[in-house]
Amino acid sequence: MKLTYYGQSCFGLETQGSHLIFDPMISGNELAAAIDVNKLPADYVLLSHGHGDHVADAEAIVKRTGAKIISNYEIVSWYGAKGLENGHPLNHGGKWAFDFGTVKYVNAVHSSMLPDQSYGGNPGGFVIWNDEKSFYFAGDTALTLDMKLIPMTCPKLDFAILPIGDNFTMGYEDAVLAAEFIDCDKIIGCHYDTFGYIKIDHAAAKAAFAKKGKELILMDIGATISV
Ligand code: NI
Ligand code: MN
Repeated sequence: MKLTYYGQSCFGLETQGSHLIFDPMISGNELAAAIDVNKLPADYVLLSHGHGDHVADAEAIVKRTGAKIISNYEIVSWYGAKGLENGHPLNHGGKWAFDFGTVKYVNAVHSSMLPDQSYGGNPGGFVIWNDEKSFYFAGDTALTLDMKLIPMTCPKLDFAILPIGDNFTMGYEDAVLAAEFIDCDKIIGCHYDTFGYIKIDHAAAKAAFAKKGKELILMDIGATISV
């Protein structure tokens, strides 16, 4: 799998010949000014919840590429009403086998409202696995005991993408506990530094994970890593 960071909670993932984009908010992110959202390949767009910092560029990407939206029922229906009828709705605890792998929609403790203030359903995260790897994209969430269900119900995680910016989600201290709950040693941070409320001390965050024998990776925007 190849993972590229596009800032805030947006990642591109290439696996099994498919391109996935998670939570696209690129054009409105000053830190991601070097990324051209009109050039990103996409077969699937996964949306964890309806907040603008996770869905801002989804409509443009789907209209340009014909990508399939994967999200909760309410968000998929909202895009369907806009004429983007190719989405796949999930709800919490449910999974589906796509051509690139299996996606399970799992709990997040957060809120969800779409940009026009429509109800965005309940927020979630995704656990995704295929022959190559298994990983968890948490979306926006607080630390929650529900995370302990992931290693009980899904293949052993190779890595996880967790929010660490505090204020609107868990901070890195709680994310260390989340990494323990999900039984995962390789964590990629997201949802930090984009605006004032969520600016963090990178060295302190990495040290908090290292103290528990875990690795926190903070990717440069535009960087790609093999995972
Ligand atoms: Ni949010
Ligand atoms: Mn957010």
